[in-house]
Amino acid sequence: MKTIHTVAALRAEIRAARKAGKDIGFVPTMGNLHAGHISLIKASKQQDCFTVASIFVNPLQFNDKSDLERYPRTLTADQEQLVSADCDLLFAPDVDEMYPAGQAIQSTVSVPGVSEGLCGGSRPGHFDGVATVVTKLFNMVQPDLAFFGEKDFQQVAVIRKMVADLNMPLTIVAVPTARATDGLALSSRNGYLTESEREAAPALYQALTAIGNGLQQQQPLAELIAAAEQQLLAAGFKPDYLEVRHAANLSIADAPKVGDKLVILGAAFLGKARLIDNISVTLITKND
Ligand code: PAF
Repeated sequence: MKTIHTVAALRAEIRAARKAGKDIGFVPTMGNLHAGHISLIKASKQQDCFTVASIFVNPLQFNDKSDLERYPRTLTADQEQLVSADCDLLFAPDVDEMYPAGQAIQSTVSVPGVSEGLCGGSRPGHFDGVATVVTKLFNMVQPDLAFFGEKDFQQVAVIRKMVADLNMPLTIVAVPTARATDGLALSSRNGYLTESEREAAPALYQALTAIGNGLQQQQPLAELIAAAEQQLLAAGFKPDYLEVRHAANLSIADAPKVGDKLVILGAAFLGKARLIDNISVTLITKND
């Protein structure tokens, strides 16, 4: 696997792969790779794509400067994992390569609707930063398929809408969340947890699962959310949000009914980490 750092080198590699008749599969990341990222690489390889990963810690999507500064940078270990997963090319640009005219005057992309509320509410500007960098990366890589993890459910919704609204010629593939055996969604931010916080961390997934089970049993939504909040507080979390939305467009699901395809999303702080997770549920019993 080659690692390249410039857009010019990237374009040359993509041209060669296309000339060889390959489709291009793209896995954008911010590095500090774990099994969740590797499942995206594998999904791309399974489609027989020439598979390009990118590693770029995008300053535009961090509304908190200290969060950006401490974000883990582990290029050598990441390269080793990508080689083991048979990734074909790694694009690892620096900030000047991505934003040569500077970040302050960068043209931006914003995706109304699905980017509002949830993480968009807690992290103002975050999804503009994501949509902007992903647009730039798509224009650089020009992939046929791009792979994203469902753990970032709202991010996938934002990118799908952006691709549809702006007629971007590629297909977005969402890959199920990779979890540790105790249910915790894999995330680079899990590395911020102390040993005891790591033990407590599956409570987020458990709280979402409890809401899902309660909805199936026709329990009132407000009570389920309140109980889940208590569950998180008892485990040492500071809840940010717990919400039930329609999976198709992230509209608020305040009166779920049979047949609804819902997503239950949560974010909560545990020590220095802000963890997010979600589960999808299709209601099979009536709920008032
Ligand atoms: O999910 C991420 O790691 C980032 O938001 C992404 C999509 C690579 C954009 O910087």
